[in-house]
Amino acid sequence: MKRLNENQNGPTIGVFDSGFGGLTVLRALLPLVPAAHYIYLGDTARLPYGSKSRETIARYAVSSARYLEDQGADLLVIACNTATALALDDISSACDVPVVGVIAPGAQAALETVGTPKAAKILVLATAATVQSHAYREACDALGLVATEKACPLLVPLLEEGWTDHPVTRDVLRIYLTEALSEVSPDAVLLGCTHYPLIAGAIEAMLRELGSNARVIDSAEATAQAVARKLNEVGFTHSTSDQTPATFQCIATDSVEKFANLGSGFLGRPIPAVELLDLGG
Ligand code: DGL
Repeated sequence: MKRLNENQNGPTIGVFDSGFGGLTVLRALLPLVPAAHYIYLGDTARLPYGSKSRETIARYAVSSARYLEDQGADLLVIACNTATALALDDISSACDVPVVGVIAPGAQAALETVGTPKAAKILVLATAATVQSHAYREACDALGLVATEKACPLLVPLLEEGWTDHPVTRDVLRIYLTEALSEVSPDAVLLGCTHYPLIAGAIEAMLRELGSNARVIDSAEATAQAVARKLNEVGFTHSTSDQTPATFQCIATDSVEKFANLGSGFLGRPIPAVELLDLGG
């Protein structure tokens, strides 16, 4: 059954991630496109996507995207770097509504941060699957940026534990960043996983401790802007001064209690009742 758009004048926007991380994108969207109803789906039962094969990631991501389309989404935001890197084309082919991913906006945000593309070096931190796909390398290359991609597979499980401010997370970060900085002196560090904005401050502090002045780029804001542009393109006008507050509902495929508790940290506000959904294996 199709869900009711509680914001009758605006579009229904489906936001999808493998877990909580995409809530950082929803957080950027709510003030930018307020006259909309958001349905957020976190596929927490099948997380992590970042350690799985392309076929499995595509199957999971397509079933999640189709679910959101069936619920009445007018536009889909793939707020997951791994699903965008490995399955954006599969999702776009499987769905009839416009689809916006996070990688092109992330690369664009990197370009805007460094200003001049010539020989600018971007260090991309991401999951193993995203790094293996080289989607960021290609997106950066298209903009004249040189990307070095570093897989940080331990960060998602640590953040899923809520260990955002924890010595173990800092130690793991120190190891990953020391390894990466031995390969490249980046002008900017792009957070290529939607979980990482939660520790953007810790990443920046660790970069400074290790002698790097690189700026840290979070693609959530850039993705929200890409969504706003796409809505205009497809004929949904919106205004940030619109008085109608955004409405949203959250759906998770595993523990709704954990989603509500941890998710509020990602979203930056309390999460109302979370619905449980079974999307199968
Ligand atoms: N949401 C994923 C991403 O942005 C990270 C979590 C996962 O591995 O599923 O890459």
